[in-house]
Amino acid sequence: MTEAATIEMQPLEFDATTVPGLSEKLLTSHHQNNYGGALRRFSAIEAELAKSGADQLQGFQLNGLKREELIAHNSVVLHEIYFAGLSGDAAPSKSLGKQIAADFGSEDAWRNEIAAMGRALAGGSGWALLTWSPRAGRLINSWAADHAMLAAGGTVLAALDMYEHAYAIDYGANAGGYVDAYLGALRWTAASEAFDKAR
Ligand SMILES: [Fe+2]
Repeated sequence: MTEAATIEMQPLEFDATTVPGLSEKLLTSHHQNNYGGALRRFSAIEAELAKSGADQLQGFQLNGLKREELIAHNSVVLHEIYFAGLSGDAAPSKSLGKQIAADFGSEDAWRNEIAAMGRALAGGSGWALLTWSPRAGRLINSWAADHAMLAAGGTVLAALDMYEHAYAIDYGANAGGYVDAYLGALRWTAASEAFDKAR
């Protein structure tokens, strides 16, 4: 039997009543039910794997648990990046700002691309992710149809959640309105720190 891995829940680092365009009800539901739900699923899967032992399971059972483990793990991490992007400074650091300008032309051009990606995912689900790729030596906006899809070797700096649970309470089916609100509320402190660490 192996030790079950655990991840501690991160509280919201901002006052949920003060985020422009995203209500307290939406943000706390998203944090508690969806981020929290992924965290609880991850813990339950880890406990199950520790109890059963991977080598004792049928291939299809292990495949299922490992698939769900990856999805829950990535959902936890991406949600933490999402929420961390809603507090701190409104502008990127000098180094991240310079990289955004080099790779996208300007912050506005980056915003246009990530907003278009978000709108393109509307009606389905997934993520649009600002990612530092050390292999490409540049920032890319990477597409994800679910939590399991990430640019290999990359560091996700900012995460636009396009699952309906991220906006339906406030925006119904108006995913475009939500994308604009997310970009209006986006804060760069955590992304800037992650960029400096990864680069
Ligand atoms: Fe979410």
